[in-house]
Amino acid sequence: GAPSSGELLEIAVGLAREAAATAYRMRAEGVSVAATKSTVTDVVTAADRAVEMQVLDALRRLRPADAVLGEEYGAGDTEVGAGGVRWILDPIDGTVNYLYGLPHCAVSLAAEVDGEVVAGVVRNVITGEEWTATAGGGAWRDGERLRCSTETDLGQALVATGFGYDPKRRAHQARVVAELIPHVRDIRRLGAAALDLCLAAEGRVDVYYEKGLAAWDQAAGALVATEAGMLVAGLGGRPAGPDLVIAAPPALFAPLHDRLADLDASGGP
Ligand code: IPD
Repeated sequence: GAPSSGELLEIAVGLAREAAATAYRMRAEGVSVAATKSTVTDVVTAADRAVEMQVLDALRRLRPADAVLGEEYGAGDTEVGAGGVRWILDPIDGTVNYLYGLPHCAVSLAAEVDGEVVAGVVRNVITGEEWTATAGGGAWRDGERLRCSTETDLGQALVATGFGYDPKRRAHQARVVAELIPHVRDIRRLGAAALDLCLAAEGRVDVYYEKGLAAWDQAAGALVATEAGMLVAGLGGRPAGPDLVIAAPPALFAPLHDRLADLDASGGP
C-alpha cells in the first residue's frame, strides 16, 4: 500500500531542501544558459538538470517502485508501482528569475497517490522560505498555518499571473492582462507559478490565474493553495489544467472566473 501523506511529505521536504541547497550553491558558482527548449527564451540551466538528477537519484534509492515526472527529463523509467505513487518535480520553477538572481525561484515537489496530489513542498531557492501541504492537513509556511485572502471585491484584488514562452501565446495573454487590469487592484507577473500559488495561499496576492501550466509548475503549489482555503479549478467546472488554472478565495472565484471566460483567457494559441 501507499505510505501516508505525512510520510510522503517528509520525504519530499528532505529532497527539496537538498535540491534547493544544490541550486543555491550552483548559483553562487555562476549560472548560465545550458540550452533552450520551446523557444529561445525558454531556457534551462545546468542547475535545472543537476537538481533534477539529484532528486531522481534519491527517489530511485528511497522509493524505487514509484514513478517520477520531472520537467527536464520527463517521465522517469519507473512505472507507478503497487503503491500508486508518482512524484512530480519542477527542479527550478522560475528559471529566468534564477538566471538573473531574482529571489523568486523554487524547487517544487509533489507526491500523487492514485492520480491525486496528497503532499507537496515548494522551497524558495534564494530566501529559504518553505511552503508545505498535505491533503486534508492544511497549508503551512515555515511552521505557520496559512489562510488565503478574505478579500471579496475583485476590484480590490491583487492578481498574480504568468506568461508562457510561445510568442503568440504571450501576445494573447498580454491582451487578457490589458483588459483585466482596469477591473482589479493591480497585476503582478512574478515569474514562478509554484511560488505564485504559495503567495496566494497566504494572501500576499489575492488571486492567481495562468494558461499553459504543466503539471510540475502547479502540482505542489495548487495543493498549498487549496489547503489554505482557495478554490483551484479551470473554466466551466473543469479541473485546473493546461487550459487554465484559476486559484481564488471562494468569494472571488466566480467573479474572476467569469471575467476570464469573457476575455477568453483559456483561448488563443
Ligand atoms: C515557468 C514559470 C513562469 C510561468 C511559466 C512557467 P519555469 O516555469 O512558472 O512563472 O509563467 O508558465 O513555464 O520554466 O521557470 O520552470
